[in-house]
Amino acid sequence: MTQHYADPSARTGSAPGAAPTGWWRDAVIYQVYPRSFADGNGDGMGDLEGIRSRLPYLRDLGVDAVWLSPFYASPQADAGYDVADYRAIDPMFGTLHDADAVIREAHGLGLRIIVDVVPNHCSDQHEWFQQALREGPGSPLRERFHFRPGRGADGELPPNDWESLFGGPAWTRLPEPDGEWYLHLFASEQPDFNWEHPAVQDEFRSILRFWLDLGVDGFRVDVAHGLVKAPGLPDMGHGEQLKLLGTQTLPFFDQDGVHEIYRSWRTVLDEYAGDRIAVAEAWTPSADRTALYLRPDELHQAFNFHYLNTGWDAAALRATIDESLEAMRPVGAPTTWVLSNHDVVRHRTRLGGGLDRARAAALLMLALPGSAYVYQGEELGLPEVTDLPDEVRQDPSFFRESGQDGLRDGCRVPLPWTGDEPPYGFGSGGSWLPQPADWCALTVTAQTGDPASTLELYRAALALRRTHPGLGAGDAVEWLDAPDGVLVFRRPGGLVCTVNTTGAPVRLGTPGRMLLASRQLAVAADAFDLPADTAVWWEV
Ligand code: NOJ
Repeated sequence: MTQHYADPSARTGSAPGAAPTGWWRDAVIYQVYPRSFADGNGDGMGDLEGIRSRLPYLRDLGVDAVWLSPFYASPQADAGYDVADYRAIDPMFGTLHDADAVIREAHGLGLRIIVDVVPNHCSDQHEWFQQALREGPGSPLRERFHFRPGRGADGELPPNDWESLFGGPAWTRLPEPDGEWYLHLFASEQPDFNWEHPAVQDEFRSILRFWLDLGVDGFRVDVAHGLVKAPGLPDMGHGEQLKLLGTQTLPFFDQDGVHEIYRSWRTVLDEYAGDRIAVAEAWTPSADRTALYLRPDELHQAFNFHYLNTGWDAAALRATIDESLEAMRPVGAPTTWVLSNHDVVRHRTRLGGGLDRARAAALLMLALPGSAYVYQGEELGLPEVTDLPDEVRQDPSFFRESGQDGLRDGCRVPLPWTGDEPPYGFGSGGSWLPQPADWCALTVTAQTGDPASTLELYRAALALRRTHPGLGAGDAVEWLDAPDGVLVFRRPGGLVCTVNTTGAPVRLGTPGRMLLASRQLAVAADAFDLPADTAVWWEV
């Protein structure tokens, strides 16, 4: 087991004397999307060397852990979520040696590293799938996937009516004389594993160990809710296009059988010292269903997509926050909060209120009890890039017939680090998606040291989370009386957060000493005007 931390205990926000908590219970976890973070070798594509060189930036930002989206060997049919070899690094991102350097140097800076594991499906170039293709119908090697004959007189119809999340049928037929169909809930280059097969189960426990041995602190589990399919693969019975992060009840999602898998993964994680964790990407119909993944002998956290999907409305936010906290209490897992990731429109754009609203949303999220996920670039206040020309797009959902709207490229545009024009210090060789010409004011360099900048707002908020006893772990939020459209809540430890989700200023009594505000405001001893789309932290 590799242990090389600077001082991991210094990275948790737990108050001195508080009940001992795992580091992950209040961690701020920063998502790095490797192709778009920083380019170390000047080929226009982000890579591990770029990540390594920017780790001090993440330490200074004040996050506790870094989640790396996939960097494994992959033909990149779905930006690396189509893995051809789970134990190898794709040459476009570097080598295993580079991955080791990232893990080691991160630990030296007191940062934890979480890597993506993609167990629902692999790449069609994965050795197992290639073998299964070669062996032909009836081969036991096909049983590691879902191969089926088709319906109809000549097997010309797919085995059932399941749809790909990227649009079109979830089945692809192999050319005659083979003629069998295989299941892929995502792109046709991403065949689904059959998790009933013991070889699949063994293989993934071995993959977890491979990365744990290398020193990673945990895993983000891709499509954690998809591994087990309903027996007999019954029709879903309706034809409307499925949505990423959706909440429908479906015969291929959130089946009870997945929990046995995560119980076996937990025993692997617990074999390792140092609090190794797993966070589930599980789209379920309700927060209660999500909590089932987080029972004490399963995974540690799950993304709170119910929160991400809640609009900028005080009553709706309050309801989601209460439901989220309530759902986690019986299982004792921390609630998590997330506003953006590599699959959704950046929240500065999605919430419809520009930068003011995005900044207020960030302070609200970071004041809530539990753990928070920050997607690279949100600390810079990046908007969604909405005018990418079709010819540069890479999201497979954009290309599949009747697919989704292909919005995922606009949140994946490479980060601006410095300088006045693209690629803004991303690397020395351009960027794989074009960056807007007007991002020079959004670079890290431009924002550093400017107290009004979004970057300095995040830095200040994360610094306070480390030291203030009213921020971080816990499950208590006490709602105080507030006018319509306004949230006021108190956390144990002496913190009050006020948030105005309306389009006009609201007069409030001054709750205490102002700690941090998402926007400049004047405060008198007894009352103040909370501007539209503004959040403020107060010490009481
Ligand atoms: C969820 C990932 O976040 C997304 O980017 C990917 O396309 C699908 N899972 C399929 O792996």
